[in-house]
Amino acid sequence: MHNAPLPHDSPGTSGSSSADRRTFVSLLSGVVLGGLAWLAPILSGMAALLYPLRQKGAAGEPVRLASLDSLPADGTPRRVPVIAPRVNAWSTSEEPVGAVYLRRTGPAEVLALQVVCPHAGCTVEFQPLPSDSGGGAPGFVCPCHKALFDLEGRRLPGANPSPRDMDQLEVEIRAGDQVWVHFQNFLLGTADKVSTT
Ligand code: FES
Repeated sequence: MHNAPLPHDSPGTSGSSSADRRTFVSLLSGVVLGGLAWLAPILSGMAALLYPLRQKGAAGEPVRLASLDSLPADGTPRRVPVIAPRVNAWSTSEEPVGAVYLRRTGPAEVLALQVVCPHAGCTVEFQPLPSDSGGGAPGFVCPCHKALFDLEGRRLPGANPSPRDMDQLEVEIRAGDQVWVHFQNFLLGTADKVSTT
């Protein structure tokens, strides 16, 4: 008895099936690669959306730093670390974000100065001024390139590399004696005070 060949036994049909498979694989590759090309900007956009969440609480918002009683009544500056909440999509933590000098300038008045030197970002130190620029009076001196400031944070004249005064921060006294500071960072090396936060 003669058995009729099955369709896939035909040489012509087998070649056609192989070509179909190649076409299918080619189409599938195109779809996958096209999908990846679309996915990249979407993932990038999601990262950009999540970035502010990661930064929330890092700067610009008021932070409670001290009580009035903890600051010397004679106006001597006290350096205070700034610990601020950082929030991301999954957790909240407290992290150091900088430091400020706090000075009592009245019964319920406080001056807050960024410790960062406006010249190039070193930390300014509270110490006696050199004899030729203040004669040993207390002030702020930058150890890097010797920028000098008085107790109000004003840039002293002379060969002073700082392009501006020390950066003053907004202060609020809450609940009668709690010192809150709007902590910010500023652009370095510019005469104008420009917030970077
Ligand atoms: S960084 Fe302060 S004087 Fe240069």
